[in-house]
Amino acid sequence: MELEGKRVVITGAAGDIGGATARRCVEEGASVMLLDIDENAIAAAAAEHASLLHYRLDVTSSADVAAAAAAVQERMGMIDLLFLNAGIEQPHAPFIDLDEALFDRVMAVNVKGVFLMAKHFVPIMRDGGSIVITASIASLMGLPGNAAYSASKAAVAGMMRSIATDCAVRGIRCNTVHPGSVNSRMMARSAEAATGGGDTTLFYEQVSAMAKLGRMVEPVEIAEMVVFLGSDRARMVTGQSLVVDGGTVA
Ligand SMILES: NC(=O)c1ccc[n+]([C@@H]2O[C@H](COP(=O)([O-])OP(=O)(O)OC[C@H]3O[C@@H](n4cnc5c(N)ncnc54)[C@H](O)[C@@H]3O)[C@@H](O)[C@H]2O)c1
Repeated sequence: MELEGKRVVITGAAGDIGGATARRCVEEGASVMLLDIDENAIAAAAAEHASLLHYRLDVTSSADVAAAAAAVQERMGMIDLLFLNAGIEQPHAPFIDLDEALFDRVMAVNVKGVFLMAKHFVPIMRDGGSIVITASIASLMGLPGNAAYSASKAAVAGMMRSIATDCAVRGIRCNTVHPGSVNSRMMARSAEAATGGGDTTLFYEQVSAMAKLGRMVEPVEIAEMVVFLGSDRARMVTGQSLVVDGGTVA
């Protein structure tokens, strides 16, 4: 097993990508702490398996994040894999119409949340651990009406390279995973918004056609990359942006 005996912390663990990753980590022998703002959802997910723990936090709150780090250390000890995956999308809007408060909210969750989590959790990581941050292909290509989201995901890719440099002395690696369009509730919300609640068939056909492999990415296909990056097989991979998109930005 790839993650036998490892201790894993996942933010956004109530979501599709976080949930799929938690399941794959358990299959690979890890203990997993599920962190999310949605307490009921992580409690329900944690009830599925004995090696799943959970703790509610808002990643934009330094008090919440500090308390979560203390709780994780008490319940798990030092951790091996930190998957910083909590994120929010923005309603598609031309940047000129984008509300300033919405811009700030996207940056707070997607960028400041990653910073706070890394700041408070790296001190409770074992030397040789791995940090994986969920970015997006939105950081690598122009997508319409996505200025705040694209900026936030480009920001964490930049932050990742600096964290990878700072943490190298402890053998801690840091990388970003950049999903393409994932078959997920987040995508369903985008489809509903784009179609005004109408027929989403054309939306999904167009999204699927953007990928050279002709379909959306399944959440578990992101999870596979996270498991790899958390395993010793990726022991010389750090400071990298790994794209899992079926060839959309190729
Ligand atoms: N779904 C896609 O197509 C897609 C594509 C590229 C990148 N991503 C990124 O993947 C990550 C996971 O997305 P997903 O598809 O699983 O979405 P999702 O909406 O299913 O999951 C996101 C989770 O983050 C949690 N969250 C939101 N704000 C939070 C906060 N302040 N504190 C703690 N938790 C918070 C939510 O409660 C939710 O459970 C996100 O960072 C997203 O931007 C998704």
